[in-house]
Amino acid sequence: MYLSRLTLTDFRNYKQLDLPLGPGLFLFHGANAQGKTNLLEAISMLATASSFHASNDREVVYWHAPDHVARLNGTVQRCEDSVQLEMIVFDPNPPILDADEPPTRTIELPPGASRKRYKVNGVPKRTMDMIGQMKVVLFAPADLHLVDGGPDERRRFLDRALCQVQPRYCQALVKYRKIVAQRSALLKRIRENQEDPTMLNYLDEQLTSLANQIVFERKRMVTTLNQQANKFQQSISGGREQLQIVYRPSFKLEENWTAFEAPQHFRAQLQTARKKEIMQGVCLLGPHRDELEFLVNGVSMMAYGSRGQQRTAALSAKLAELSFMHLSTGDQPILLLDDVFSELDTSRREYLLDQVVTYEQVMLTSTDTASFPSQILQRAHSYHIIDGTAQSAS
Ligand SMILES: Nc1ncnc2c1ncn2[C@@H]1O[C@H](COP(=O)(O)OP(=O)(O)OP(=O)(O)O)[C@@H](O)[C@H]1O
Ligand SMILES: [Mg+2]
Repeated sequence: MYLSRLTLTDFRNYKQLDLPLGPGLFLFHGANAQGKTNLLEAISMLATASSFHASNDREVVYWHAPDHVARLNGTVQRCEDSVQLEMIVFDPNPPILDADEPPTRTIELPPGASRKRYKVNGVPKRTMDMIGQMKVVLFAPADLHLVDGGPDERRRFLDRALCQVQPRYCQALVKYRKIVAQRSALLKRIRENQEDPTMLNYLDEQLTSLANQIVFERKRMVTTLNQQANKFQQSISGGREQLQIVYRPSFKLEENWTAFEAPQHFRAQLQTARKKEIMQGVCLLGPHRDELEFLVNGVSMMAYGSRGQQRTAALSAKLAELSFMHLSTGDQPILLLDDVFSELDTSRREYLLDQVVTYEQVMLTSTDTASFPSQILQRAHSYHIIDGTAQSAS
């Protein structure tokens, strides 16, 4: 699939952008702080309905947007059809940046109104129906820390891909997170003797049933990743390294448990952990505590990997994610590579380029085009990003 047009209004530092796109390779280059990452963030947001680097999605609204609203609009050509995606993000309280400025008006939202709204082909939709209409794989410098970074990053790696290919997964994940929050609050109240422990039974039932869906999808994804990732690791390391990605769910999961039996086993594990959970006032078991482990030649990369090995494993896992998305939907995802080449050495950079250039649509950002081979520069549509504008350079 590919994005054939993107328009932005008051999105970050883009006041107004109308960008014709198409299949092929796009290179967005420019100095620091001009809007390269913001552009990929907008594209990714149309696919996943949330920002990959804002702590709160309302941060994407241009600080001085007259109506406090950012508008994103994309036309996507898919295997079978084309689709028009629209999203608006509302920020009721923009930041005050200049003490001399008159204070910005605060706009009140009607109670219950959402800060983000979506339309697909002009028809209002729920978040769940927006996610996955367009599929992207984003590769940013932080992804090179997939192996040696925090566990949240690794869970996000699984969730971002699974949510886009399976709306049901996304639904389960959203509900699961709510249950974990409710259950943690309840555990604390029980600890303070304000509530009876039997109150947990209902939430345990909910938690284990949702956990079951999440765990089985994650397990399936990791199996598919493993069919691909080792191939990449071997090629990059000149055949010296074998990569294995191991899914370590926080609930003990036996290989022979069916999806029907597993929730009962999970409930039994919650029963055993109940005292400890009450004492600590937090949910200790479940997909929010799952882990992924990367083994190279059987050795844990988190504990013992060299920096090079960790990066190769991260790169291999991301390339495997790309195959996973393609295999799961039959349509190639749009590839967004934000400034990753500057972080890689020449051989890894060439390998990555080689793997990705054949994809239907690839968008690269860079401050420095000199690091790209001339055949890439020749075939890429180049845009110079300057202060929230994109100027065609090819
Ligand atoms: N809500 C917003 N409104 C207006 N400007 C914003 C907003 N959010 C971020 N910016 C500005 O957008 C500018 C460009 O950010 P961006 O991260 O896209 O830069 P970049 O071109 O990727 O730079 P680098 O090469 O350093 O990664 C930053 O200077 C930032 O201050
Ligand atoms: Mg950037």
